[in-house]
Amino acid sequence: MTPPSFFKIGNRCTRHGTDTATTMTPLQSIKGFKDILPGESELWQSIEQQAKTIFDAFGFHEVRLPLLEKTELFARSIGESTDIVEKEMYTFQDRGGDLLTMRPEATAGIVRAYLQHKLYAREAVHKFYTIGPMFRRERPQKGRYRQFSQINAEIFGVASPYADAQLILVLVHLMNALGVTDATPHINSLGCPACRPAFRTALKTFLDGAGDHLCSDCVRRRETNPLRVLDCKVPGCREATANAPALADYLCPECQTHFATVQQALEGQGVAFTIDDRLVRGLDYYIRTTFEIQTSALGAQNAIAGGGRYDGLAHTLGGPDIPATGFAIGLDRLAEIVGTIRQPAPLQPALFIAALGEEARRKAFQWLCQLNTSGIAAEMEYGDKSLKSQMKRADKLGASHVLILGEKEMQRGTATLRNMASKEQIDVPMRDLANRLIERFKKT
Ligand code: HAM
Repeated sequence: MTPPSFFKIGNRCTRHGTDTATTMTPLQSIKGFKDILPGESELWQSIEQQAKTIFDAFGFHEVRLPLLEKTELFARSIGESTDIVEKEMYTFQDRGGDLLTMRPEATAGIVRAYLQHKLYAREAVHKFYTIGPMFRRERPQKGRYRQFSQINAEIFGVASPYADAQLILVLVHLMNALGVTDATPHINSLGCPACRPAFRTALKTFLDGAGDHLCSDCVRRRETNPLRVLDCKVPGCREATANAPALADYLCPECQTHFATVQQALEGQGVAFTIDDRLVRGLDYYIRTTFEIQTSALGAQNAIAGGGRYDGLAHTLGGPDIPATGFAIGLDRLAEIVGTIRQPAPLQPALFIAALGEEARRKAFQWLCQLNTSGIAAEMEYGDKSLKSQMKRADKLGASHVLILGEKEMQRGTATLRNMASKEQIDVPMRDLANRLIERFKKT
């Protein structure tokens, strides 16, 4: 197959009338896609580790699922008229003609896997978590990216409001463990198929009377998804809907009891929350409880996490009628906040081996391998560098000790171990040195 012309890489570039060698500026990442580099990745790891510790305690098990799913999965679950499905998905036809989408969220894929593997037949209740990247073609800005990561948690098989409360508690517990104090749960009930249609009709009638005060997006939403008008941030829309009907007035007795129990359960745990009757969320699968963890630390992108109950989704996707509830944390946003509170200590080698000359380097490499495979963070200089430059590098890496091995040391059969903080140096015999170093640095 002939590759399309865009696969030809490297532009011949003519400068000053002569055809020079290929001149290219280094390629840049795609807009809205960012790199997590050392320095930041340690922070991400520590957040993920903290989340995993909490998930273990609360009985969640990890699932790892494909990043690519059939487009239909997202259209049927998130909803055809949502912003995500209408305009934000990375969708393409593969070479076999299938319409595929880079997952914009994880819940649909988790439900797909749950049904595909008939996990409901194995156990009545499942608790899953997954961590990984999502893709949405939104307008990039601080806290909003086109590739971003989420920490998802989902509970299947529990209709009880206590499952919703437990998820909110997990979020609050994680925020506390990470030292994030500016994070408040906002909760709402979106009603159920029994009571929401009446609210939708009342809201639609109200919005029809709002004339031309709504933004162009909301004029469209009024027809396709009127509830979404309620959480539009445009001031004109806020004003126009200030006296809109409230969902709370339309909840059926079952939804009222469900929502009241969530609140009581949170109060019982001493969790402060805000009831926010405009919290309608941007995905269509929710019923009853919805929630977000909001912060003032991120400007316009104030949600660190969002979630809610989605009892009908398994059935909509062709499976049995199984209740479910879950949340997703925006890891990029959370890392931005945690990064302002604390920075994990950079990884520093316990030992740097400064070798001078080929024979010393060979020996140093042997010891380095022994140290590294014994779990000790050690480094060496691989090239032919002066002692001064090697000491400089050891200092830059933050090594606590340097083992110096030059020709003189090789002849004497001893190496010099220098404590970088105290500057104290001792001679150490080379015989069985690696094992003695392992013993010494394992303890520190
Ligand atoms: P969501 O509200 O669309 O919900 O996303 C959850 C969180 O992901 C947001 O609160 C935010 O922190 C983060 N997030 C979303 N979009 C971006 C973006 N473009 N850049 C950076 N962070 C972003 C869901 O995805 C649902 N699947 C949550 C859920 C799980 N509901 C039930 N189970």
